Amino acid sequence: MNRRQFVTRSVAAAAAAVLTGSDRRADADQVPGSITSSEVQQARFPDGFLWGTATAAYQVEGAWNEDGKGESIWDRFTHTVGKVKGNTTGDVACDQYHLYPQDIALQKRLNQKSYRFSISWPRIQSTGTGAPNMKGVDHYSRLVDTLLAAGIRPFCTIYHWDLPQALEDRGGWPNRDLAGYYADYAGILAKHLGDRITIWAPFNMPWSFTYMGYGVGAFPPRRTHLGDFFKAAHTVTLAQAQALRSIKAASSKATVGSAYGMCPAYPKTNSEADRAATARYHAMNNVFFLEAAMHGRYPKAFVGEPPYELMGFKPGDEKIMHAPLDWVGFHYYTRRVISDASNSRSFGGGGFSGTEIEADAEGGRDPYTRFRAVMPTEGPLTEAGLEVWPRGIYDLVMQISREYNNPIIEITESGCSYLDAPYDKENGRVPDTRRIEFFRKELAELARAIADGARVRSFHAWSLLDNFEWASGQTERYGLIYVDYRDQKRTIKDSGHWYGRVAASNRLDM
Ligand code: FCB
Repeated sequence: MNRRQFVTRSVAAAAAAVLTGSDRRADADQVPGSITSSEVQQARFPDGFLWGTATAAYQVEGAWNEDGKGESIWDRFTHTVGKVKGNTTGDVACDQYHLYPQDIALQKRLNQKSYRFSISWPRIQSTGTGAPNMKGVDHYSRLVDTLLAAGIRPFCTIYHWDLPQALEDRGGWPNRDLAGYYADYAGILAKHLGDRITIWAPFNMPWSFTYMGYGVGAFPPRRTHLGDFFKAAHTVTLAQAQALRSIKAASSKATVGSAYGMCPAYPKTNSEADRAATARYHAMNNVFFLEAAMHGRYPKAFVGEPPYELMGFKPGDEKIMHAPLDWVGFHYYTRRVISDASNSRSFGGGGFSGTEIEADAEGGRDPYTRFRAVMPTEGPLTEAGLEVWPRGIYDLVMQISREYNNPIIEITESGCSYLDAPYDKENGRVPDTRRIEFFRKELAELARAIADGARVRSFHAWSLLDNFEWASGQTERYGLIYVDYRDQKRTIKDSGHWYGRVAASNRLDM
């Protein structure tokens, strides 16, 4: 299908505002989905825009068993032979547990204003419950102080997938008791760090870790039961709200939002069935947890009623899960094209693409949501296999702005994996021009959304530095800074220098 046919067949079915943008770009000289160079030149970000980067504890810290840290489900998974590409682990990762002063100095050098990091739950409570391990708390306290001294906002993600193994042994997220344990853990963090941290995101990509961990077994704890997925998702919804309350009880400065993974979704055809399936995808994969927090109900993700029984939903839960967020945070990597799978008899799971997973086996993911989600390959692919589609961030930001009353938005992650390495002939420089192009076009689309009224106040590039990419191990490199894992040497890539100039000038044309 050529670009024009694609625009007609799929994007045409999206909102009128989006359509106007698509048409304007239909003859752009660049790759499909791309913005024109004059728009890149004109793009400006507002004064005070928070330029940042993001990482996650397990992916960068290392020190997996130091200072009283307990085992997490990711430690268990990576220590099992055959689970991770290249048989690498996060035991050392980027050694940021020890090298954080250096990593913060690098951020300062790149004019950064926000650092989104996550806290490792088993560092704070080795088995997930009980009194805090003060060595773990003190580590994060020092990290926060060092960030503040460098003029960088500490943005804390409370949970980025490293569940204490002891809690998995008690049933994991499908066990509703975890909501309470998690809220206690969040309260401990707010009590000890809430005098300095003002911005908290309870969960990184809740749909992904519940579905990949419990529904299809791609991630630890590798369970493959749809009922476990729905139960886990419901526990996480309750946990998100209970944590919001315990954080606010412990810290009067706290604001609480999210770090959801989202993909703008476009119907495959203009048929009513495909458009309805696209709405279900959006409800399930993008706003399931957001809608629960904002309105105390699940969105219409299902072809009938939500499977309440399967979820372990109890009367009164709608009140518990209602905890409106102060701002809305989400990631953008790529998009999806959706079709209806209602008439198909097989409901297998299975399609994997890059950092995300969709059941793109015939029949879609499950008998309840009944859609088929596919990542198109009309645009160029990154080395992680994700389609580059700059316009997606504009569409997504505008859609969330429309649907949630124009909230404050934080872009919590976005980035691309390319394997460029230091190049001797260039004095060790890393000339990663594809990453610069990726960010330049995407950020121009983000600037366009801001110009059109979206209240976006930050952008966090994934990632500050190359790191341990989950089941892909060290085979993907998302960093603005290159890491040589043999000696932990950091080299700022050309994209890092460029991003530093963007942060200093609020413009993209340099
Ligand atoms: C996101 C994850 C992050 C990293 C990037 C590439 O989905 O939140 O940890 O894996 O993808």
